[in-house]
Order: sequence, then structure tokens, then C-alpha cells
Amino acid sequence: MNTLLAAVEAGAKEMTRFFNGTFSVTNKEGINNLVTEADHAAEKAIIEVIKNNFPSHFILSEETGELVSDSDFKWIVDPIDGTVNFAHGIPLFCVSIGLEKEEKMIMGAVYNPFINELYVAEKGKGATLNGKPIHVSKQTSVLNSCLVTGFPYVYLETPNGPLQVFEKLIKQGIPVRRLGSAALDLCWVAAGRFDGFFEHHLQPWDSSAGFLIVEEAGGKVTDYLGNTFSPYQPHILATNGLIHEQLRSYLI
Ligand code: IPD
Ligand code: CA
Ligand code: CA
Repeated sequence: MNTLLAAVEAGAKEMTRFFNGTFSVTNKEGINNLVTEADHAAEKAIIEVIKNNFPSHFILSEETGELVSDSDFKWIVDPIDGTVNFAHGIPLFCVSIGLEKEEKMIMGAVYNPFINELYVAEKGKGATLNGKPIHVSKQTSVLNSCLVTGFPYVYLETPNGPLQVFEKLIKQGIPVRRLGSAALDLCWVAAGRFDGFFEHHLQPWDSSAGFLIVEEAGGKVTDYLGNTFSPYQPHILATNGLIHEQLRSYLI
């Protein structure tokens, strides 16, 4: 846990250093899929902390890729989740780091240094926001829920794709927000601000820490078919548990 928190802190420090200053921005695959100098600097600082403490552990990080080892432990790092927000001066972004042991997520931390919110979870030990326990909402009806979603950088032309689902919910009068940081979306479900989150195409670094935080806050996380969630497949549905099946019926 100490290394996880130190790594998150190291990433946040780099992020903060760049946020109000100038930084270079380049484009990855897709349109407006940005990466900034701050993503690289934060990632370097995070990897350094992990390697100094656990040189033999496997690391999977968004911008660097895999630092492979045959360790049972794997760190999954998103140095900045919400890079488009970051690049536009919108303070909705975070560092997100999950730790797996034998392919099971055992710890996760998500930190938004700008609004100073640190979310942490450890398997079987609950989830906290700035050290205080958090719980998902008690909303029982999807029609009265406040939801959040995200859209991929490259639009998916699939039946029942992101816009169709969005439209169905909006037509029911259900508020659906789009913050631009999947890790924060998940943490805000864990904190009971949103009743549910779904997204069609995420990567392991977007969801690994946040999904454990939701589960440890008493929520439910599955794929769109209702199967046990794995961060290595793209679909995610995370809710307070009570509206899970109601919301899932809009996705399939
Ligand atoms: C993105 C954010 C966004 C989600 C995208 C992700 P990035 O991560 O989490 O909310 O909709 O699918 O790729 O690129 O800012 O690390
Ligand atoms: Ca991300
Ligand atoms: Ca990122």
C-alpha cells in the first residue's frame, strides 16, 4: 500500500507541475486522442517508484506498454486518465494505478490532485475517499438515477453502440453525464454521486483501479452480459448493484 500511495503521489506531483504551465501535446491513433508531456513525465515518476520498491514486478502502463517479468504481481498504470480534459485546462483528470496478484485485482488508487480527492481500495477491506469509508448510492430505480458514460476516441459502428444507448436513456429523461475520465467516473459511482457508469470500449489502465474501488464500496461491476468483470475486455457496467439489471437492459 505504501508503494501504491507513493506512486500515485509521484504521478500527481508531475501532473500538477505541468497543469498551469506550458506543455507539448501530440496525437495518438484516432482523432483528438492526445498525449502530453505531462503524461510521459508522470508515467516516468510512477514507474520509478514502483521499480525502486519492487524491481521484479510486472508493469503495464498506458504510454510505455508492458515491462514484462514473470512476477505474480502486476501494476496497471494510467499516468493521466482524462488527458483531453488536462490538455484543455479542465480539472477533471487523475492518476490511476491498480495492483494485481495472480491475475486478481488486490489494490487500487485514483487521485485527482486538482480537487484533492484520493480514492483507495484494498480487496476485502472497503474503499475510502481521503481516508473516510465510501459507499455506493441506495437508488433503486434507473429512471430516477444519475448516470455517467464515456465515448471512445474512435467511434464504434456497432449495433447498440454508445450513441444508441445514450439516446435511449436520454429519451427516458434519465440524466447521463460525460466527464472524460473513466477512472473518476468509477470513483464517483463508488462515492454514491452517480448511480451507474457504462462504457463500450475501455483499456485495462482505465478501469483496473476504479472497478475494485466500486466493488469495495458495495457496488457491482460486470461486462454488458452480466459476467464477472475483467479489465482486459472492453465493456464495463458499474452500478450501485440495485439498478444493475435495469441499466443492463438498455445495453443489450
Ligand atoms: C480516456 C478517458 C475517457 C474515456 C476514454 C479513455 P485517457 O482515457 O478515460 O473518459 O472515455 O475511453 O481512453 O485517454 O484520458 O487516458
Ligand atoms: Ca485512460
Ligand atoms: Ca491516459
